[in-house]
Amino acid sequence: MMPFRKEIAFRLAALTGLTEAEIETCLEIPPEAALGDYAFPCFILAKRLKKSPQAIAAELAGSIEPCEYFERTANAGPYLNFYLRRAYLFAKLLPQILREGPAYGRSMEGEGRTVLVDYSAPNIAKPFSVGHLRSTVIGSALCRLYRACGYKTVGINHLGDWGTQFGKLITAYRRWGEEGRLAGEPVQYLYHLYVRFHQEAVKEPQLEDEARSWFRRLETGDPEARELWGRFRDLSLADFQRLYRYLGISFDSYMGESDYNDRLTGTIELARTRGLLMESEGALVADLEPYGLPACLLRKKDGAALYITRDLAAAIYRHETFAFDRMLYVVGAEQTLHFQQLFKLLELMGFDWAQSCLHVPFGLIHFQDGRMSTREGKVIFLEEVLQKAVELAREIIEEKNPGLREKDRVAQAVGLGAVIFGDLINDRIKDVEFDWDKVLDFAGETAPYIQYSHARICSILRRAAEKNKGGSSAAGPAGEGAPLPGDAAQDWDLTCRQHICDTNRAAQGQALTLLGEPEEEALVITMSRFSEEISRAVRDNRPSCLARYLLELARSFNKFYHNCPVLTAAEKLREERLMLVAGVRIVLENGLAMLGIEAPQEM
Ligand code: ARG
Repeated sequence: MMPFRKEIAFRLAALTGLTEAEIETCLEIPPEAALGDYAFPCFILAKRLKKSPQAIAAELAGSIEPCEYFERTANAGPYLNFYLRRAYLFAKLLPQILREGPAYGRSMEGEGRTVLVDYSAPNIAKPFSVGHLRSTVIGSALCRLYRACGYKTVGINHLGDWGTQFGKLITAYRRWGEEGRLAGEPVQYLYHLYVRFHQEAVKEPQLEDEARSWFRRLETGDPEARELWGRFRDLSLADFQRLYRYLGISFDSYMGESDYNDRLTGTIELARTRGLLMESEGALVADLEPYGLPACLLRKKDGAALYITRDLAAAIYRHETFAFDRMLYVVGAEQTLHFQQLFKLLELMGFDWAQSCLHVPFGLIHFQDGRMSTREGKVIFLEEVLQKAVELAREIIEEKNPGLREKDRVAQAVGLGAVIFGDLINDRIKDVEFDWDKVLDFAGETAPYIQYSHARICSILRRAAEKNKGGSSAAGPAGEGAPLPGDAAQDWDLTCRQHICDTNRAAQGQALTLLGEPEEEALVITMSRFSEEISRAVRDNRPSCLARYLLELARSFNKFYHNCPVLTAAEKLREERLMLVAGVRIVLENGLAMLGIEAPQEM
């Protein structure tokens, strides 16, 4: 990472007695360029030093010398502001970005450490609804972010593949099931059966008994029950996997709730030997009241284990198997109590790694308008949302750029990107209001806006490459950034890449001396913050940090491009500006990839 934060922390630590980590966390980015590039809020020291923050800021400003990275510091009210040396950014940072290309932004911060991420975890029979969208999108972004920081990640899909709902499904399927429909649309059909079961059970209450008995048979290994359950599970899993492939997501493990069946007795025994369990009418209960938590049931009186029992067994198994340094559960905020109980139980069972487990909660998602049809009751299927998004993206592209090649691929990248980013841009703990017009707005706080900025840069580079090739007339008189006409565009991808490499080579030899407009400075300064924002996203498990940052960079690019011509600038300046935008392109592409979003080269 660029050493700016570290450098400030190092210097201030010596002067203030705060630790470097404390300083790094409290450093702020000032709201306007005039106030510098980093600000240290001196409030933090006021109490300890018994002085006003203003006085502290003034004193500190007087005792910090300029250095390679910072040209000056200045106090402004209670803040101590640091001004980065522009020449350093243009001469060192930009060439570094161009040199590193796809690797830029990656670090080895987490080298040698393993993070396990439990995410997505849909329930079989209950549909993969948009509620699971959040876990899927946030969890996979976290995996990518941790990997970018050098951690080893293990993504686990803790499938909800066991429970009384299977007794209901087996009952329903044996009565009304149709083989063909099950094979055709398993997830939706099983949900349909589930809904039907509940409707019929109102009229015919003995259905509930039948379902209970089937679940018991399943638990005791009855072949017919096992066979049906296995079929439901396999078909649903294949269906989920199709969706994950579409989203570009893969898991390291699909061990679900049912996979812990043979570890439940051992887990309960362990809790018992630790003196954690009381018997209450045949059921086994852990009393957590001394710890301010409600008691929790680990085994029902009929012998059945519960969700939390399986989670205990899973956590222990995972620690044995993966020796994780950290385990994240990306699960909705409504399960907060469940995870408090789980972690407390693990601690009481004697596992000191319990403190490495963290619940990463998120809020609900609401759909705003009627464009989404809900087939069954209130449930919205994720698949429908994704299809809708891609369809709408396709319509917009058709309207804006009817001549675009590979429209389907681009529509998919834009549609899926819009849904993913529409989620990730929000502070995860807040509820999300999902509004189609908003997430697909090419000028809004959206993935399409960032993707469009990226495509614009590609187009600039492409045209520059064409010019370089010997003034091929294909570059023609069209305005900057306009798509190339037919033939010349054939190998644009290649030429564009070549050009980036040329710029690359150029950057190694020569210092950039002509850049210095405020928009150019703003761009390079924003680029310098990339790795910091990644670290912050990882530290707080908040992909929104990176999402917001990418928006800011795209905005900064558009402002630059509005005020500073690239292709029509004088030759040397043009080359330097090309390097600048090539750098922006790299950061946008790498950043989007870390969120699981593609950056098409044309849009
Ligand atoms: N299947 C659960 C649900 O949809 C989420 C499981 C989360 N992971 C876990 N280890 N409990 O509510």
